Amino acid sequence: MVFGAVLAGGKGSRMGNYTVPKQFLPAGGKPIIVHVVEKFLVHPEIDYVIVGVNPEWLQHMTDIVEKYLPDADRLTVIAGGADRNSTIANVIEEINRISGNDDDIVVTHDAVRPFVTLKMISDNIRIASEHGVCDTVVPATDTIVYSDNHEFITDVPLRSNTYQGQTPQSFKVRLFEKVYSEMTEAELKIVTDACKMFMMKGYPVYLAEGHVSNFKITYPEDYKMAQIFLGDNVGVNENDQ
Ligand code: CTP
Repeated sequence: MVFGAVLAGGKGSRMGNYTVPKQFLPAGGKPIIVHVVEKFLVHPEIDYVIVGVNPEWLQHMTDIVEKYLPDADRLTVIAGGADRNSTIANVIEEINRISGNDDDIVVTHDAVRPFVTLKMISDNIRIASEHGVCDTVVPATDTIVYSDNHEFITDVPLRSNTYQGQTPQSFKVRLFEKVYSEMTEAELKIVTDACKMFMMKGYPVYLAEGHVSNFKITYPEDYKMAQIFLGDNVGVNENDQ
């Protein structure tokens, strides 16, 4: 089976003072997370969708499903984990309860990237089926500079070889289990990106084509941009001019 995993276990601390985590904020007439879940529910190759939310927000998400997705019968909401990778691990446990086949594939996606396209999801499924694991990326337009001390530049990689990572990130479920079980506690503390785990354990992570519009809502200005894209009448603050 092919599963969509919507990762919504975070609290959006970089957004500042909102009463709900960013994935539950409204845009275009419904919570941001609903736009994301809908993309996965309508995708013809996705068999089932699992949403991992912070345990404190489980009831809130359940209420959202009842209100905006009352007919969704291939959808389950579960508790996420303390970090992003443990939210994925919880999703994988649920996948094993539902299916447990050796060829299961999961397409994981941030709940705060509402502009993912059906093509991105299709490409992810194809590449993960063929190669085991893939990451969605866009070629870097700005030169990426690297600083391992946060004081001065320690490397400037060739721009034509650099990309910015987005999601979906997709993989064979059994491969994720293997790689995750091989991670030490210390490694898990510093590695927040699932694809990085695969790389560390020697698996090539293949590239899928993303798009700048598939941006992640991280700061209030990203939220405003998402609202504008979704047709909300967002007033321009005089400080923005
Ligand atoms: N995420 C998750 N489980 C966690 C932490 C994060 O599923 N324990 C998800 C977030 O909900 C989000 C995605 O991973 O959809 C990308 O993470 P990020 O933008 O960092 O979200 P937050 O952790 O919510 O934001 P912040 O870092 O500002 O607190």
